[in-house]
Amino acid sequence: VRIWVPYSEFVADVEALAPDIEVDVYKGDTVPASIGDVEFFVTPYAVTPEALVVTADMPRLRVMQTLSAGYEHALPYLPAGVTLCNARGVHDASTAELALALMLASLRRIPEFVRNQERHEWRGAQYPALADKHVLILGYGSIGAAIEQRLLPFEATVTRVARRPRPQDGVHGIAELPHLLSSADVVVLVMPLTAETKRLVDADFLARMKTGALLVNVARGGIVDTDALLDALEVGAVRAALDVTDPEPLPEDHPLWDAPGILISPHVGGNSSAFLPRAHRLVREQVARFVNGEPLANVVAGPGVVSSGTPRDVGAARE
Ligand SMILES: NC(=O)c1ccc[n+]([C@@H]2O[C@H](COP(=O)([O-])OP(=O)(O)OC[C@H]3O[C@@H](n4cnc5c(N)ncnc54)[C@H](OP(=O)(O)O)[C@@H]3O)[C@@H](O)[C@H]2O)c1
Repeated sequence: VRIWVPYSEFVADVEALAPDIEVDVYKGDTVPASIGDVEFFVTPYAVTPEALVVTADMPRLRVMQTLSAGYEHALPYLPAGVTLCNARGVHDASTAELALALMLASLRRIPEFVRNQERHEWRGAQYPALADKHVLILGYGSIGAAIEQRLLPFEATVTRVARRPRPQDGVHGIAELPHLLSSADVVVLVMPLTAETKRLVDADFLARMKTGALLVNVARGGIVDTDALLDALEVGAVRAALDVTDPEPLPEDHPLWDAPGILISPHVGGNSSAFLPRAHRLVREQVARFVNGEPLANVVAGPGVVSSGTPRDVGAARE
């Protein structure tokens, strides 16, 4: 069974799972000669589209495994009959931690203190605390729950919103959002970028937010209409803390950099020291499932039920 992984650290462990496993490293540049034999392709983490065109030359491919929780970038390169799995869970702690860091930094004005410190200026004032704030988590999934877990010790209250309502878990459906937005002090975006969520945060959404409320985006830049956000920031209607932007990377001369009330981090939510060991564990578990004919975890598109050594059904429906 030929497996491709993006890190040499994974090779020995994955090869040790079964005697017939052979592993090559593909980081997105030099294409290994085994391309015609690959059955299980773990894609590089911060992958460019060019690095994924290789799937067109993988006739034996059965599984594409991303190391990101978002997978919208992989869908165009998923051949018919191939199962796509994402890295749901791998980034929960790291991304939730950054969401909290952005919230606290923005509310307590840490960037202002850093700028003052550079000028050796001692300037204090009263700024909002996270304590007693009402936080709306839009996309109450794996990372959303991890954000909530970290918010509660800060004595904030949380409203959970997902695509579908789950009343037994206190989760509201997206249809209720217009009524919920106006009472939130902080709105955190942490859902996938899909046709439904693209530009969901438009002028109307922003107008429904409480004046001066904080928008935190740790999901995908495309969920926010950047021009509408710029307009809202300019008049002080909202503040924003963004780990992801549209476009990305944000060009040097983009107006978002200098907009009032904004804090920007360069899409580093999942990219911390927590990433590699957790990604390694996921890859080891998924390859073990594949070679043992067990159901894969985190199936997000494609047929889902696959095992090594059986031909792929190119007629299988894609999600
Ligand atoms: N900044 C970073 O570095 C970073 C790192 C990791 C992940 N992310 C982003 O975070 C996203 C979430 O990851 P996750 O692992 O938490 O995903 P997840 O467990 O699949 O949860 C996604 C949540 O979003 C909800 N959702 C989907 N479509 C929606 C819609 N149209 N309206 C409202 N809610 C909707 C889902 O609701 P249902 O359950 O009702 O379907 C679910 O609650 C990823 O897709 C990725 O884009 C960013």
